[in-house]
Amino acid sequence: MKQKITVLTGAGISAESGIKTFRDSGGLWEEHRIEDVASPEGWARNKELVLNFYNQRRKQLLESKPNRAHFRLADLEEKFDVTIVTQNVYDLHERGGSTNIVHLHGELLKMRSSLDGSLVYDCTTDIHVGDKCPKGSQLRPNIVWFGEAVPEIENAIEIVRQSDILIVIGTSLVVYPAAGLVNYTRYEIPKWLIDPNDMPLPRIPNLKFVNEKATVGVDYLINILLYNV
Ligand code: APR
Repeated sequence: MKQKITVLTGAGISAESGIKTFRDSGGLWEEHRIEDVASPEGWARNKELVLNFYNQRRKQLLESKPNRAHFRLADLEEKFDVTIVTQNVYDLHERGGSTNIVHLHGELLKMRSSLDGSLVYDCTTDIHVGDKCPKGSQLRPNIVWFGEAVPEIENAIEIVRQSDILIVIGTSLVVYPAAGLVNYTRYEIPKWLIDPNDMPLPRIPNLKFVNEKATVGVDYLINILLYNV
């Protein structure tokens, strides 16, 4: 049986694809207020503002490409049973070739009914105020906003519990419940965290910090995991 690797990714893995992170200097949350564009309250106040924010991000995503870190994580599937648990709403892991991906915070290329969360549709163009689902309610991005439930979290906890190796890439680990996932790993398993910036490390055993950007850090780890060098 193949060993199970869980890779927890955040915005930092997309930085080298030209997509801004949220909390780095110059990041998205310097230009936009979270409560305006990523909360149910913001949506209730001004749907057009929220839709425009995600319409712009969708356009940018469609012009972006996976980087070497995305592609190399897919290579890990040659030897391991890999699950990517991502906080990112992009499809860059899919386009990079990974086949087993859990999107904790939803997907930018999907939209859903604002009344019935089970009505989900593909979406590669802008969503406008007045665009309705078949039940007649406004369509919204299929994104988990601050203050909303994270439907995939139980699934992700179980995946992390069963992993033999954990790799964390490009996340500030400040947004819960995603940040808490690292605490569900078994005590003895090897854990790596890749990030180019110094950050407070989670207090979990057997954690090694690879202080590199994603492309360099993933190359380094692949050499160890696939080729034992
Ligand atoms: N390679 C790897 N990591 C990088 C790179 C890079 N090239 N550039 C920056 N980083 C790191 C930063 O040092 C930081 O630790 O990526 C991390 C990005 O952190 P955040 O911007 O906070 O993004 P993330 O952790 O994914 O945010 C979590 O918050 O806003 C919400 O829902 C949104 O899913 C998101 C969640």
